[in-house]
Amino acid sequence: MKPEQPQKNYLPGLGDPMPQSNPSQSETSHKPVSALTRGEAEVELAFLAKEIARHDTLYFQMDTPEISDADYDTLVQRNNHIEARFPDLRREDSPTRRIGAPLTRGFRKVKHRQPMLSLENAFTSEDVVDFFDRARRFLSLEPNTPMECVAEPKIDGLSAALHYQNGQLRLAATRGDGSEGEDITENVRQIQNVPQALTGDAIPESLEIRGEIYMARDDFFKLNETRLEQDEAEFANPRNAAAGSVRQLDAFVTASRPLKFFAYHAEALSGIQAKFHAQIIESLRSWGFSVSPEIRLCPTIEDLNAFYKDIESRRADLPYDIDGVVYKINDLDWQRRLGSVGRTPRHSIAHKFAAEQAETTLEDIVIQVGRTGVLTPVAQLKPITVGGVVVSRATLHNSDEIARKDVRVGDHVIVQRAGDVIPQVVSVVMDKRSADSQAYVFPTQCPACESPIEEIPGEVARRCFNGLSCPAQAVERIRHFVSRDAFDIEGFGSRHVEAFYQDGLIKTLVDIFTLESRDRQSATPIRKKEGWGNQSAQNLFTAIAQKRTISLDRFIYALGIPQIGAVTAKLLAKHYRSLNQWIDQMGIAGGNSDGTLAGSVAKNEAYQEMISLDGMGENMATDLIFFFHQPHNREIIEGLQAILTVEDYVLEVSTDSPIAGKTVVFTGSLERMSRAEAKATAERMGAKVAGSVSKKTDYVIIGADAGSKAKAARELGVHVLNEDEWIAMVG
Ligand code: IVH
Repeated sequence: MKPEQPQKNYLPGLGDPMPQSNPSQSETSHKPVSALTRGEAEVELAFLAKEIARHDTLYFQMDTPEISDADYDTLVQRNNHIEARFPDLRREDSPTRRIGAPLTRGFRKVKHRQPMLSLENAFTSEDVVDFFDRARRFLSLEPNTPMECVAEPKIDGLSAALHYQNGQLRLAATRGDGSEGEDITENVRQIQNVPQALTGDAIPESLEIRGEIYMARDDFFKLNETRLEQDEAEFANPRNAAAGSVRQLDAFVTASRPLKFFAYHAEALSGIQAKFHAQIIESLRSWGFSVSPEIRLCPTIEDLNAFYKDIESRRADLPYDIDGVVYKINDLDWQRRLGSVGRTPRHSIAHKFAAEQAETTLEDIVIQVGRTGVLTPVAQLKPITVGGVVVSRATLHNSDEIARKDVRVGDHVIVQRAGDVIPQVVSVVMDKRSADSQAYVFPTQCPACESPIEEIPGEVARRCFNGLSCPAQAVERIRHFVSRDAFDIEGFGSRHVEAFYQDGLIKTLVDIFTLESRDRQSATPIRKKEGWGNQSAQNLFTAIAQKRTISLDRFIYALGIPQIGAVTAKLLAKHYRSLNQWIDQMGIAGGNSDGTLAGSVAKNEAYQEMISLDGMGENMATDLIFFFHQPHNREIIEGLQAILTVEDYVLEVSTDSPIAGKTVVFTGSLERMSRAEAKATAERMGAKVAGSVSKKTDYVIIGADAGSKAKAARELGVHVLNEDEWIAMVG
């Protein structure tokens, strides 16, 4: 368990900006800011910069704050006041130039005062009628008692709770699991339309605002364009983009993202002086929050239906994505009495929209070849707008999908955007099919390299197994190899990969590292190519040279083996420790005596060892072995091994613990800690955690409802521990 961080952000009011009594402030003057001379101000700002930075370190990095939250804030206020009076004295290292302190451990957890609930969904107007009937019954009202509602658009973003103390923003948290979220205060401070200080009257002393952080559609498209240019992965939709932007440890990144906030709820410790939700909405506006301009008071259910239809018809024209509307019973007394059931309130309901669909013509089906050779059929459509976005391509997933839907070139099809940017072909409009249409035949040759396409038993995807000899795969493999989580070669963007491949400069992964020496002898060196110069070419060579030494997990990940992502690569690196050991074991696992892979893998000991790793499945293992048994992949691994230094995986573990070097298996559910925590602890203490029991297992730790593994352990005579014994052992 992480230690609870002190609750720095629940501050009392700031009041007088003059420091009161504070032992650590011997160097702050007690003069009012207005009486400071320039010289005094300069001295004091220097002191404050150092002092605030010191407290930030004590608080954020060492968990040992020396001063109270209020005193800390007073220091910050004093600094800000002096800077406001002498703006030209603002220092390079001023606390106001930094956005918070560098967080060292991810986001701090924040307990919500009131749980952050979610909403029950209604999909039909009958569901909505049911909702009101239930509410009336619960309140013992006559069946037709009018129930006025506030109707609001349901913004597709992420909800946040913002705490204001005496009108000042003090803390912002994500919803998290509803009872505990993450402290995103610094990030929320970067959102332009979130007031740092509230305006207007009757601001409760301790106020909590809830609302939705979102990204407008236009801003989302612009952000994705920039990301593409910079070779960064695009976000799938505005909601993901908003969530990804908020959950940035570096608030400077958040600051560069165009986020917005709509407030829809307020609560105060002292209670809210309002009888109706509509009044809360008004207060939110008066305090300076952005509130959706679409919000309407709807006295009857007919008004709600009209609101729903109106918003749905204008959905594509709204500047942000919504996935429905929300109806909230206006009377706060009724709201309070209705309360909640489970994690949803009885007073509000979300009336969802169906996914946006449109009809168009399918002009062609093209086959895309991915990095691992998977062939994805993509429908080329007559461009159409779906939910405000022009759609001209849609995924058809795989050949089975095409056959199941009987999609043919020339068909009229229904396409859908369901939250995600990649649209799908939902169905064919059979009535409009032309008499001479032909069923689609999936190609039997790779469109990029013309090698035959094999079907893999048990896999729906068709694949080209030509690996790096297939141009489409080669380019994707090289892109992956230099990408951020792999070799992370700076300045080696997608476009360069493509261009170098076309020019014949880089055809395989090994060529990357011989680029510079070949370039020196070239009649047309890179620096003379369009878009390059001496400096940029040199920078690229330097960036490549720096990556001649690489960690084993990055190396494994960079190879681009199907299904082996960064997490599995780490798992393999951790287990096999060195490149040589890994290569040897992969060769043995599944290898026949002649070194080939004939049909099915030989399930020898090396294979068993591999699949016993916690997190490794049989499917992955098969892909891994298959990869190793393709001569062109072996050639590349050996080629890279000859020119690179692949560092052994070093586990930072203790060697003197009772489980150092032992292999342990967890089974059943543990009560005192999560499986993830138990595993991490064991590894930190030098143990290997395996997923299944074998002769090599030293300890099996048995939680509740342990099944076959416990039995296997007893049969093999492996030492069995219960949770308490395990905890006693690891302390
Ligand atoms: S009220 C107790 N109002 O929808 C009610 N939620 O499905 C809490 N949302 O977690 C939420 N727009 O993230 C409310 N006008 C709105 C909303 C809204 C979007 C989101 C919010 C919530 C989710 C529930």
